[in-house]
Amino acid sequence: MMTGARANVVEAIGHTPIVKLNKVAAHVKSEIYVKMEFLNPGGSMKDRVALNIIKDAERKGLLGPGSTIIEATSGNTGAGLALVGAIHGYKCIFVMPDKMSSEKIATLRAFGAKVVICPTAVEPEDPRSYYEVTKRLVRDTPNSFHSNQYHNPANPEAHYVSTAPEIWDQTKGELDVFVAGMGTGGTISGCGRYFKEQKPGFQIVGVDPIGSLYYEYVKTGRLTKPFSYYVEGIGEDFLPGTMNLKIVDSIVRVDDKECFMMTRELVRQEGIFCGGSSGAAVAGAIKYAEQIGSVKKNILVLLPDSSQKYLSKIFDDEWMRANGFLEEEDPLGTVRDLLQQKRQRAIISVKRGDSLKDVVGLMKEHSISQVPVLDKGRLSGLVSELDLLNCLLKNPGQMEKSIDDLVEADYAAVTADTKIKLLRSIFNEAKVVCVLDRDELVGVITKIDLIEYLASRHG
Ligand SMILES: Cc1ncc(COP(=O)(O)O)c(C=O)c1O
Repeated sequence: MMTGARANVVEAIGHTPIVKLNKVAAHVKSEIYVKMEFLNPGGSMKDRVALNIIKDAERKGLLGPGSTIIEATSGNTGAGLALVGAIHGYKCIFVMPDKMSSEKIATLRAFGAKVVICPTAVEPEDPRSYYEVTKRLVRDTPNSFHSNQYHNPANPEAHYVSTAPEIWDQTKGELDVFVAGMGTGGTISGCGRYFKEQKPGFQIVGVDPIGSLYYEYVKTGRLTKPFSYYVEGIGEDFLPGTMNLKIVDSIVRVDDKECFMMTRELVRQEGIFCGGSSGAAVAGAIKYAEQIGSVKKNILVLLPDSSQKYLSKIFDDEWMRANGFLEEEDPLGTVRDLLQQKRQRAIISVKRGDSLKDVVGLMKEHSISQVPVLDKGRLSGLVSELDLLNCLLKNPGQMEKSIDDLVEADYAAVTADTKIKLLRSIFNEAKVVCVLDRDELVGVITKIDLIEYLASRHG
């Protein structure tokens, strides 16, 4: 072996640099640093995951000569598996949702993998969903191994044995806060566990896109209605086995527009050629730094992948404009405009523990068919007319009973900045939209509110 060379490309995984942000976060007291995981040979931090999953499966005898690796992947895990697979001698089949960029699909095909595309707009239990198609392929392919990044403990373990110790070593432990977007949860769970073992009081911050269910789940313990969004790789519509939400100290929510604008700024101002989930994580880290105010911390943000795969999206003005991310003003406005027009009085809400009688009276008085339920001032769910009716039919004469068993999560959570345009698809999934400012409920929108708002703009 020649001096200075690595034995093969697998040996080149890791050892990525950490760089300080100098412009985009100049207004916050804390210092924000980024870990450039997009410099891995397969283009993302998932190289580490792929390597650990394959080594683990080989140790357990689940992978051997001639095996085929099957994975449901949004691209990066696929590139990692294909790259490590090439060195270790395995074939790959990848199943992807159709919202993924064409560059991601082309990349996997370039590695020689077979790629199967599935619709995004179906429930995870639907036979066409990418989870179900994956299961079927695993069943039907001989000598196959389902790497299963959503449930395989070797995924978070990869970050526990590789990413986090590398960061700790590079920074000599001078780090206080770690920020990452959350998809499978592998990064945050594995790194979070390691950092918390090293330093008491270490803070783990998760970043979640609007539409994903993590944020509301952490805040209220409820699985609300997820809805689709554009940023790729982060957020989920179910709880993966690889996600340990207990390790997350704070969770920050971001919308597509701020993710994409920050991604562009990172490239243009800092020269950091990263992807949309990196922009999301940095936008989240800045919000967190703003929240902690004058306290100065060393914050490290993991940047999962590169701009390369998003050239036809985030970096294409036409695509950005077509999706409403570049215009200053959307002609339909935002949820804030709707709430203002509604000239909403104080929001009508009830508390956990209130009786059926009180709630029925309140709904009648205000002619509303569902009402938000607060628990110590925070949104805890909704009670609907239909559920009250069913309960009273089953238990006639129990008007003093508490509403607690009827609280449900059939709502979508948005912010005042959410575009009105988005509400149409959100209402396909959820009965009611709750508008939150940080954790405070600032409005409730029903379909009829939206109809009235749209009618008034054209009337
Ligand atoms: C681009 C990108 N960002 C972020 C993530 C989230 O990382 P994790 O799955 O470790 O939570 C992924 C995972 O698929 C990804 O592909």
